[in-house]
Amino acid sequence: MLKTTKSVQPRLSRRQFIGGTLALGGALTLTAPRPLLARDGYQNLTASAHSTELVPGYETATWGYNSVTPGPVLRYRQGERLQVTLTNSLPQDSTIHWHGLRLPNAMDGVPHLTQAPVAPGESFDYAFDLPDAGTFWYHPHVLSDEQVGRGLAGALIVEEDNPPPVDRDLVWQLDDWRLTDQAQIAEPFGQFHDLSHAGRLGNTVTLNGQLPESFSLRSGERLRLRLINTANARVFALKFTDHSPQIIALDGQPCQPHAAPEGRVILGPGMRADVILDAALDPGSRVTVVDDYYPRQSYRFIDLAYSDEPPLRSSPLDAPVALAANPLTAPDLKMAPLLEVRLQGGMMGQLESASLDGQEMGLRQMAGQGRFWALNNQSDGPALGAPQLFKLQLGRSYRLRLINESVFDHPMHIHGHVFQLLSRDGSVDPLNRWQDTLLVRRGETHEVALLADNPGPWMFHCHVLEHARAGMMSVIEVA
Ligand code: C2O
Ligand code: CU
Repeated sequence: MLKTTKSVQPRLSRRQFIGGTLALGGALTLTAPRPLLARDGYQNLTASAHSTELVPGYETATWGYNSVTPGPVLRYRQGERLQVTLTNSLPQDSTIHWHGLRLPNAMDGVPHLTQAPVAPGESFDYAFDLPDAGTFWYHPHVLSDEQVGRGLAGALIVEEDNPPPVDRDLVWQLDDWRLTDQAQIAEPFGQFHDLSHAGRLGNTVTLNGQLPESFSLRSGERLRLRLINTANARVFALKFTDHSPQIIALDGQPCQPHAAPEGRVILGPGMRADVILDAALDPGSRVTVVDDYYPRQSYRFIDLAYSDEPPLRSSPLDAPVALAANPLTAPDLKMAPLLEVRLQGGMMGQLESASLDGQEMGLRQMAGQGRFWALNNQSDGPALGAPQLFKLQLGRSYRLRLINESVFDHPMHIHGHVFQLLSRDGSVDPLNRWQDTLLVRRGETHEVALLADNPGPWMFHCHVLEHARAGMMSVIEVA
């Protein structure tokens, strides 16, 4: 029987959820429905309430696109044009934000800033070109903590012309749900503790919307795993026991292929990693993938279960894994102004006051309005008029120094642009990483370079969706 989830750790509840169905044991099915092409080359994504069997034997009331949770995997080729009609059949306003894509501002899906919210019963056409290949995702930008928390999220894959040869190319969408003992989504959203601490951490971790025991693979095969963290708040650190995953892209952008440090792939909310995994063990082997990000809360994420078939090849595939770079222009750091962003607030933080709707407020008064966080002493919500943090000159490069003054982790996400990581806590990053979401952990300082080459007002916010809701949200204007 399921137990009250309130106080249990994910490991326990996962076992409980799985415990009733030990016969499950089946391999994960990874077939995602392909969206249907509607007239005019637009494909439809209808957001609506439906139910999903996240936990075997239970129908969870979720929200999804085209009646699936997670939403359909959208696949395009690099250079193609995306054309999607969002139809809103939810009981509240919505939009779609295309996370990580460099697109025209009017297509970015931010209510009140780039478009009017799409009311229930209405629809909106999104159309834009896809300059970059890589692993991206889509989700609403209205009441995101609730809408994403109920399941509105899907993968968006833009394929390279010449991808590295692999035997299977798979999406692994990681999500984290807070469920009741009847496997229903726990309400309410936006609780005081979640807003003021680490966000809405759940008790049930899913892979592509399911709770599989094991993932089947064959000795000798090479996999490309596209890991996407769509959780509201949970950071994952997947450790592939006895394997050496190679990271070839971060946030969809190719990087120098490198072994995951200590075999762990760390992903904050919103982040992605493309990983090459060589199935190097013998037929019949079985090892565990563990998520051990949070101290003393590690749990078994999934088992890698090798079939008994003879190895697919006698020696590991000897093909290059590096991806061709996307057409990004490197920032020019000569004369680039340095801008500081202080990430402030939360419980046990040092924030004393911040401005909210143009009014200076003490922490107590802020808390009364559900605000606990600030960027450079500005706190605002997801509604109208998130404060403008910086005004950048179109075509100019900047250095941004992100200083985490709180005792929580913040995956800081920028829209319409990609950051180039320069250094973390003063040590220069050698890997030429481009990221749209940077996990700035407690006490850390990151320095990044940014070429402001896409005009418009762009959101810059924490992707712990409760932090965004409670003040860690701002606008960077490029003009
Ligand atoms: Cu994935 Cu502004 O968000
Ligand atoms: Cu945060």
